[in-house]
Amino acid sequence: MKVEDKKDDTLLAHLGRDPQRFDGAVNVPVYRASTMLEPDLASWQDPARRKRPGKATYGRSGTPSSFALEGAVAALEGGHGAVALPSGLAAIAVALLAFAESGDHILVTDSVYRPGRSFCDGLLKRLGVETTYFDPLIGADIAGLIRPNTRLVYLESPGSLTFEIQDVPAIAAVARDAGLSVMLDNSWATPLFFKSFAHGVDVSVYAGTKYIVGHSDAMLGLVVGRDEETEKRLRWTARSLGVCAGSEEQFLGLRGLRTLSVRLARHQETALALTRWLETHPAVERVFYPALPSDPGHAIWRRDFTGASGLFAFALARRAPQPAIAAMIDGLELFGLGASWGGFESLLIPVDDELPATRGFLPEAAAGPAFRVHAGLEDPADLIADLDAGFARLDEAARVSA
Ligand SMILES: Cc1ncc(COP(=O)(O)O)c(C=O)c1O
Repeated sequence: MKVEDKKDDTLLAHLGRDPQRFDGAVNVPVYRASTMLEPDLASWQDPARRKRPGKATYGRSGTPSSFALEGAVAALEGGHGAVALPSGLAAIAVALLAFAESGDHILVTDSVYRPGRSFCDGLLKRLGVETTYFDPLIGADIAGLIRPNTRLVYLESPGSLTFEIQDVPAIAAVARDAGLSVMLDNSWATPLFFKSFAHGVDVSVYAGTKYIVGHSDAMLGLVVGRDEETEKRLRWTARSLGVCAGSEEQFLGLRGLRTLSVRLARHQETALALTRWLETHPAVERVFYPALPSDPGHAIWRRDFTGASGLFAFALARRAPQPAIAAMIDGLELFGLGASWGGFESLLIPVDDELPATRGFLPEAAAGPAFRVHAGLEDPADLIADLDAGFARLDEAARVSA
């Protein structure tokens, strides 16, 4: 299939498939494989054996299911190649380790996923890499933070707790001029709503666990390289570390891609319904969702993104005692209390304790506590009714404890 002239929805249905190769099966089967047998000695001794792209030689270095998933994600993103990994955090680690070396300085957005921050402050620091966290809204002023030994810039847009939209093209242009690599955690937007490479990024990082798998039933990570050299570095790093995605997870990632577009459209529609309703609710002071015209990141989101997914936050207008917050959350029927997002189900968690140590966007912006919501695939009216009942419990419990 010629990829260049096809729309994303068509690509999602056709990428990474080869029915003729698999007895006509529509989907690439799960390859449960470690050992791969060569047909004869000549093939075994062929010096090119391990170098042929897409050729399986050992389970850890790839199977037809990992090649199918990696090829599909790379084509959707418009990159040269992808590497499938066991989790999103492994993807963050592989991306950073592929480029940062002892003695280097790296620039990381203050809104980075927290365990990614711990990776920088822990293992990378131990390896002699120094991290500076920067204000996600810094834009081209990032130039002021670049040192002679700065190696890369790591972005996450929007921040998955704080929802600042970063000016990726402005940051990437400065970074490129200074010879730095640019990495972006694109898990929120997916390759459908934000094309990393068209906006100056070199490595796109995914928690495939979220929207790509989409059903809260598998851990998966992916790194995508803009060009051959970048992909090679990423693959070499993953191989050096001995990390690869499990075969079942590769299959589930590829299966998730088939419905990514329709799921995202519904997540977006529901998130818009919920956030518009929340904006008008007296208990709520602010809603953080870049698709809303009231959001500070809206203009850049409109310029750079083609959609918004189902993850957003809101902050209450007033402080509330702990029992009142508990009454609100514990009584919710449809929103689960869970750390992840991107699945078919709705979630709601308090986020004040999770916010960045050096800069807190949400607490600065509102009087009351903040909550992150993942809008699932349930009927939006049912979700709104559930939240509304939660606010009523909050009010009631706050009144009783006053
Ligand atoms: C923005 C973001 N990036 C990366 C990750 C890590 O993904 P995983 O849980 O698959 O390691 C998460 C997980 O919550 C995330 O929210």
